[in-house]
Amino acid sequence: MLLNRRIVVGICGGIASYKAVDLVSKLQQTGALVDVILTKHAEDFVRPLTFAAVSHRPAYTDLWEASGQAAEMHIVLAEEAEVLAIVPATANTLAKLAHGIADNMLTAVALATQAPLVLAPAMYRDMYTHPATRANLALLRERGAHIVEPEVGRLASGAIGPGRLPETAVLLGAISQALGRNGDLAGRKVVVTAGGTREPIDPVRYVGNRSSGKMGFALATEARDRGAQVVLISGPVALDAPYGVELHAVETALEMRDAVRGATLDADVLIMSAAVADFRPAAPAAHKLKKEGRAEQGIAFDAQGGFTLHLVRNPDILGELAAAEDSGKSLGDEGKRQKRLVRVGFAAETSDLVSYAQGKLAAKRLDLLVGNDVSRSDSGFGAETNKVLIFHAAGGMEDLPLMPKQDVAAAIWDRIVPLLR
Ligand code: CTP
Repeated sequence: MLLNRRIVVGICGGIASYKAVDLVSKLQQTGALVDVILTKHAEDFVRPLTFAAVSHRPAYTDLWEASGQAAEMHIVLAEEAEVLAIVPATANTLAKLAHGIADNMLTAVALATQAPLVLAPAMYRDMYTHPATRANLALLRERGAHIVEPEVGRLASGAIGPGRLPETAVLLGAISQALGRNGDLAGRKVVVTAGGTREPIDPVRYVGNRSSGKMGFALATEARDRGAQVVLISGPVALDAPYGVELHAVETALEMRDAVRGATLDADVLIMSAAVADFRPAAPAAHKLKKEGRAEQGIAFDAQGGFTLHLVRNPDILGELAAAEDSGKSLGDEGKRQKRLVRVGFAAETSDLVSYAQGKLAAKRLDLLVGNDVSRSDSGFGAETNKVLIFHAAGGMEDLPLMPKQDVAAAIWDRIVPLLR
C-alpha cells in the first residue's frame, strides 16, 4: 500500500518530534519515498541528519533551498507529495495553516500542495484545549484536513491531559487511509466480523475457540486503505483497533448477530471471518459454579462429581441473511434494504476442505467462500500467514499460495470489488 508512494512528513518544534523519527523510519521500511521538512524550532529537538539517516533522502529546512529544477523546492515537494503529514503539529503551525501563512518551507509546501493533509497535533494540554487552537483545528477540518486526535495521558511537563502524540501504528494508519481515500472501495460501506465468540457458562467461564482475529483485522485494514467506510465487529481479541475503523466489540454469537444486522442495513459488503460458536450453554449460571455443587445452582452433578453442560444452537448469522433475502425482507428494524449485500464467508476446516467449503457456499448462498485448512501450522488460527482456497458462486475455485494475512486480505478484496459493479 505504501510502496513507492511519495509522502512528505513535516516536523514541528515540540518534544514529540523525536517520535516522528520512528514514523519516518517505518515509512521508509515499507517502501515509501519520504521527504522530511523541519521547522526551525524542530531542529532544536532533532537534527535534520537524524531524519535523513532514516529516510535515506535529504531533510529540508530552508524555504529557499535550491531545487536544481525550474520550480522552487517547496513547489517541487508540494507537487510530488501524495500526502502531507505534519507530525507533530504544534499550536503555532496549526494557526499558520488555518490562516494561510507560508513563512517557512513546511507552511509553504502546505499552502502549495493539493495532497491531503494529515495533522497530528501534540502539545501542552492547555494549548490544545485553548479556544484559538480549537477554532483553528475546526477550520482545518472543515477544509478537509485529516486530524489525528492526540491521546490523553501524561505529557512531557508532567501534566495529565490531551496532547500526547499517538503511537506510530496509529499515524501509519492515518497516512495509509489518506493515501487510499480514492481507492476502489471509495464510497462503499463494508462490514467485517473477526475473532471468536465467547458463550458464557457462568460469570467466569465460557465456551470459546482459537480464532485470533488477525484475518478479520487485516481485511478491515485493507478495506480502509482502499477508501471504504469500515465497521469491524469483533469478539474478544488481543489486537489494537485499526485506526479509522469503527470497532464494535461483542462477546456472544447473539450479540454479533445483532451488531451484524444493524451494520449491514446500508452496507455493500459483509465478510464473516469470525468463528461464531454454533452452540451456547442453555442456561448460564448467574453465580460462579462451585465444584462442590449445590442444588440452587440448578446443575445435576453425577456420582463422580461431574456434570453435563447442556448446549443449545446459536443462530446462523450468514444463513439468516440469505433466508431474509429469499423472503425479500430485511432482518433489521429499518425496513427493507435497498442495496444488494455481497456476502463472503470463511470455512476453517481440518479435513475435506473442498467439499465442506462448496457445501457452505451453496447453503449460505454466498458470493465467495474463503476456505482454509487450520490443521496446518502456517495457516489459520493465530498464524501470521494463511493458505486459502477461494470458491466463487459463479463457479470455480482458486488455490492461492501461502501469503501474509495482509496479502490474503488484498487478494480477497480484489475478488470482491468486481462483484460490486
Ligand atoms: N457463521 C455464521 N453464524 C454461525 C456460524 C458460522 O454466520 N452461527 C459463518 C462464519 O462466520 C463463516 C461461515 O458461516 O463465515 C462458515 O462458518 P463455519 O463455522 O465453518 O460453518 P458452520 O455452518 O457453522 O458449519 P460447521 O460448524 O458444521 O462446519
